[in-house]
Amino acid sequence: MPKSTITFVCTECGGESLRWAGQCPHCRAWNTLQEYQARRAAKDSRLHPVQPARAMPLSEIASEDSPRTKLAWGELNRVLGGGVVPGSLVLIGGEPGVGKSTLLMHAAAQVAKRGKVLYVSGEESGQQVRMRAERLSALEPGILLLAENDLDAICEAIRGEAPLLAIIDSIQTVTDAGFEGSAGSVTQVRESAARLMRLAKEINVPVFLVGHVTKDGSIAGPRVLEHIVDTVLYLEGDRRQELRLLRATKNRFGSAEEIGVFAMGELGMEEVPDPSSAILAGVAQAAPGTVIVSVLEGTRPLLVEVQSLVNKNEHSMLRRVANGIDVNRLHMILAVLEKRIQVSFAKSDVFVSVAGGIRITEPAADLGLALSIISNEKNRPMPDGLLVIGELGLSGEVRRVGHLERRLQEAARHGLTRALIPAGSRAGRPSGLDVVEVRTLAEALSAAFPSPIQSGAFIKEAGLSVS
Ligand SMILES: Nc1ncnc2c1ncn2[C@@H]1O[C@H](COP(=O)(O)OP(=O)(O)OP(=O)(O)O)[C@@H](O)[C@H]1O
Ligand SMILES: [Mg+2]
Ligand SMILES: [Zn+2]
Repeated sequence: MPKSTITFVCTECGGESLRWAGQCPHCRAWNTLQEYQARRAAKDSRLHPVQPARAMPLSEIASEDSPRTKLAWGELNRVLGGGVVPGSLVLIGGEPGVGKSTLLMHAAAQVAKRGKVLYVSGEESGQQVRMRAERLSALEPGILLLAENDLDAICEAIRGEAPLLAIIDSIQTVTDAGFEGSAGSVTQVRESAARLMRLAKEINVPVFLVGHVTKDGSIAGPRVLEHIVDTVLYLEGDRRQELRLLRATKNRFGSAEEIGVFAMGELGMEEVPDPSSAILAGVAQAAPGTVIVSVLEGTRPLLVEVQSLVNKNEHSMLRRVANGIDVNRLHMILAVLEKRIQVSFAKSDVFVSVAGGIRITEPAADLGLALSIISNEKNRPMPDGLLVIGELGLSGEVRRVGHLERRLQEAARHGLTRALIPAGSRAGRPSGLDVVEVRTLAEALSAAFPSPIQSGAFIKEAGLSVS
C-alpha cells in the first residue's frame, strides 16, 4: 500500500489535481487547491465490524424499504423527490445568510410532530438555535439539540437517539479526530460526510447536511461533497428579497430538475406553492416598461414580471444595469433593437430588472425584455394580460423556445388573455388564451401595442422604422 495518497482538491469546484497549482485547472479559480489526505491518521481502526458480503437477487430486494417521510411542505417534498428517504444523505448548500438554518428548522419542526429530530449545531449555541426556533414558531418538544463539532460524538448521538431525521448545521464545522486538518478543510469535510453517509445507510436515518458556499479558498464548499451525497439542494435568493428557490442539482431519489419555492419573512419561511400568482399579484398594472414573461425553472413554468427604465443621459457615462439577468444579454438585446428597429440608446441609461428576486437565465425571455425596453422608451404601456415568449436572434428574428405548451397553460391558468409566441411553434392552445404568432421583432411590436394606435401608426408615431 502506498504510504499515503495525497492529491489536491479544489475547495470551489471539488476538482482533483495531482499537483498543487495556483489556479484550479477545472474551474480556473485561484488559490483554491488544498491538500487532501485520504489516509486515516494514527489509529486506523475499522469503524464498524465487517459483515460478510452476500450478494442477493436484485428482484428480491425490497424496492423501498421504509416509506418516505412526508414533510408538511409540498414544496420541500417536491425537491426531495416526494419526501425524505430514510438513510439518505442530503446536502443543502447556499450562501451565508440565505436561510439554510431557517429552512431546516422548519423542516425539523414538521418532522418532530411525528418523532425525534436531532439538530446538531456546530455553529450556533443552544440559546441561539432556541431563539430562532421560537421566532419561527418551531419550538417542538421532539427537536433535540446537540451543540457539537466532534464527529465521533455526533455519530454516537445519532446512533443512540435513532431520530427520524438528523440535521448537521454545518458540515464545515465538523471534525473527525482520525484525520488531519482543521474543520472546513477538504479532508475533514469529505471524510466526515463519507462517514455520515455510511452511518445513515447503516441505521436508516436520513441526514441533512448544511454546506456554506464560500469564496474563501481555505474552506471547502458544498461542491466538494456533491459526488458523495445522495441529493444536492441549493437554496438561492437575493437576501434583500423574499423569494427563495430550493433547487435540486442532483438526486438519487428523484428528478434533479425540481425546484421548490419559498418566501422568507421575519417570522420565518413559508412555502409558495403557486409562485406565478404571488409574482403576478405584485404586477403594476399597465406601467410603461412592465412585461410578463415566462421562465422555466426546472420543469415549472413561472410567470415573471420584468421592468425596464430608459432614461435620457446626455452628460455622464452611460449605464446599463441588469438585475436578475445577465448584463451581456441586455447589451445584445439593445444592439438588436438599435440595428433592427433603429431606436438609439446612445444617449440613454437602460435599467432592467426582474421582479421578486428571480434570475432569468434562459433566452425565452428575450422578446419580453426587448418589448419592455421599447415600452418604457416610448412611454407606451403594454396591454393588460399579455404574455410575451420568444428568444431573440441577432437579425431580429423570434426563435422558438422549449416547453411552450406548459408555459401557455400556466398563463391561461392565471387569467392572462393573450400571448405572443414564436411563429411555427407546435403547441396546444389552451382555451381562453388568444395566441399570436410572431416571426420578427417588428411583428411582435405591431402585435403588442393595442389599438387604436395600430402597429404601423405606432411605429410611425414613435419614430420607429422597421427593417
Ligand atoms: N431576528 C430576526 N428577525 C428577522 N429576521 C431575521 C432575524 N434573524 C435572522 N433573520 C433573517 O434570517 C436570515 C438568516 O437566516 P439563516 O440563519 O437561516 O441563514 P443561513 O443560511 O443559515 O445563514 P448562515 O450562513 O449564517 O448560517 C437573515 O438574513 C435574516 O433575513
Ligand atoms: Mg445557518
Ligand atoms: Zn476548481
